[in-house]
Amino acid sequence: MPELDDGVQLSVDNLHMSFGGVAALRGVSIQVRQGEIFSIIGPNGAGKTVLLNCISGLYRPQRGKILFEGKDITHLRPYQRARLGLSRSFQKIELFRGMTVLDNIRLGRHIHMRAGLLDGGIYLGGAAREEIQNRDFIEREIVDLLEIAHIRNKVVGMLPYGLQKRVELARALALQPKILLLDEPMAGLNLEEVEDMARFILDANEDKKWLVTGVLVEHDMGVVMDISHHVAVLNFGEKIAEGAPEEIQRDERVHEAYLGEKEELYVTRR
Ligand SMILES: Nc1ncnc2c1ncn2[C@@H]1O[C@H](COP(=O)(O)OP(=O)(O)OP(=O)(O)O)[C@@H](O)[C@H]1O
Ligand SMILES: [Mg+2]
Repeated sequence: MPELDDGVQLSVDNLHMSFGGVAALRGVSIQVRQGEIFSIIGPNGAGKTVLLNCISGLYRPQRGKILFEGKDITHLRPYQRARLGLSRSFQKIELFRGMTVLDNIRLGRHIHMRAGLLDGGIYLGGAAREEIQNRDFIEREIVDLLEIAHIRNKVVGMLPYGLQKRVELARALALQPKILLLDEPMAGLNLEEVEDMARFILDANEDKKWLVTGVLVEHDMGVVMDISHHVAVLNFGEKIAEGAPEEIQRDERVHEAYLGEKEELYVTRR
């Protein structure tokens, strides 16, 4: 195996994933460095969500390997990966609509802890107390970071869509992840909400309390080019290009893949 470059936190090596006859990933490799925002772009059906699902453990690739902090996690279950520090949000909102914002944040965390309890055996009183104190602290920090104090006790189903997306981000952050996997966090948001969401992602990435590495699947090119350190481009299940945002904007292969959506690549917001 080739030696990993310094700072590589997540390494995806030669992933293959097919559904019946459809090859969704055909030998995809990426290396995500600690502390960066790594974006995955590509046309509809390119394999972006499948790649994210393989990283979070929802899908099992037929071939390939996934290393997180040097540890082979290819065969770990999603909650085991979550406990190691991989957390995700979904392309379609996956929240409990009848529950409050805070309960969603708590439950998201609890589900992962409980799965771990069943797996790991007895949980001791002292540790449990520490966990509860820690949990309160984390909740306060998240509410603060994402500016959701005013809706903390509101029922999620009653909130406008843009705020629900923010609660999704809050739920994913509640696991105190090292890496946050975000599948189209901007989808369906208006301009102001997009700017807010981009700022929250940057805050989670840059704030010393969080320092979260971001792996972002996103169609909004303005945001991708603005906040990413590194961009990988998928097309028909293959990685066709990667590099700094400026390089990707200039890349002919990328423009060909986006034929018809070409002008989108030139959009920048700041
Ligand atoms: N569970 C599944 N069963 C069968 N085929 C699937 C499944 N999930 C994804 N695919 C197929 O794999 C391919 C890649 O899908 P994927 O959802 O990763 O695309 P995407 O890049 O996320 O697209 P979009 O931008 O539209 O979200 C598509 O052809 C899709 O139909
Ligand atoms: Mg998708």
